[in-house]
Amino acid sequence: MNLMSMQNKNNTVELLNGIKLPIIGFGTALARNSICDDAVREAIKQGYRLIDTASQYKNEEPVGKAVRESGIERSKLFVSSKLWNEDHGYENTMRAFEETLKWTGLEYLDSYLIHWPNPKPLRGIGYEKHNADSWKAMEELYKAGKIRAIGVSNFLPHHLEALIKHAEIRPMINQICLYPGYVQIETVEYCKKHHIAVQAYSPLGAGKLLENPVIIDLAKKYNRTSAQICLRWHLQMGFIPLPKSVSRERIKSNINVFDFALSEQEVDELSGLEVELKLLPSPDEAEF
Ligand code: A2P
Repeated sequence: MNLMSMQNKNNTVELLNGIKLPIIGFGTALARNSICDDAVREAIKQGYRLIDTASQYKNEEPVGKAVRESGIERSKLFVSSKLWNEDHGYENTMRAFEETLKWTGLEYLDSYLIHWPNPKPLRGIGYEKHNADSWKAMEELYKAGKIRAIGVSNFLPHHLEALIKHAEIRPMINQICLYPGYVQIETVEYCKKHHIAVQAYSPLGAGKLLENPVIIDLAKKYNRTSAQICLRWHLQMGFIPLPKSVSRERIKSNINVFDFALSEQEVDELSGLEVELKLLPSPDEAEF
């Protein structure tokens, strides 16, 4: 890759509806309260413009606070949250979304995603029905200007197919677990074909990949950290990584990944890495 033609941290991709989504973001799962507030402040200071939260993370309040007090114009930040499993259905989605707005103290969200396609308590009625009902509410919120882009998370092609069958507005984002050695090829291909942006959560394999010898070798070769190697892989795969960190130094270094490039062969090698992390169950079998 020609370094001159490389992307930078301010680059965006265009979603189906023309909205611009930053190509790298900041993940906040597991970070609570003041730690989260500090981390998000630091992330924005270091140039992250996409901040990802979820009602399930119980940190929408500090995320919203950090965003509101960042000194960056609201329109320059992309704030995303997610509908939790117990809140599926039309009425529940409307209520849950209002609660999210209240917690964050924001007037609108940039994106709102259905967190899981097939939550355990609702399995009896089938995902097609409850996702369609939630989606109807999200479409209305979108049309009302309260959400700029609507999407999903952890959806496999069969969940997406079922959703699209009932949808008036197509999903614009699918946020899934991806890291070197775990590429979810069918879902990624499906998303590409339907112009659905792919966001990657746990892009560092929840930090468990960083001691992998192949990654360490590449880190030595490029004089980078293992995390930076993983994040470059995501960018070159066309994924939008959402690395999490509560450390100032790591928040900073994780976004400084735009001045080197892996070769195609190295990208392929990382895609094919043999790792057995099993971070999460299949969405149709999850116990939540
Ligand atoms: P910490 O918050 O102490 O930095 P993922 O985004 O794949 O879920 O990974 C998150 C985990 O990886 C967290 O435990 C985080 O810990 C750790 N982590 C994030 N960035 C780095 C980094 N640059 N080097 C080492 N560990 C990191």
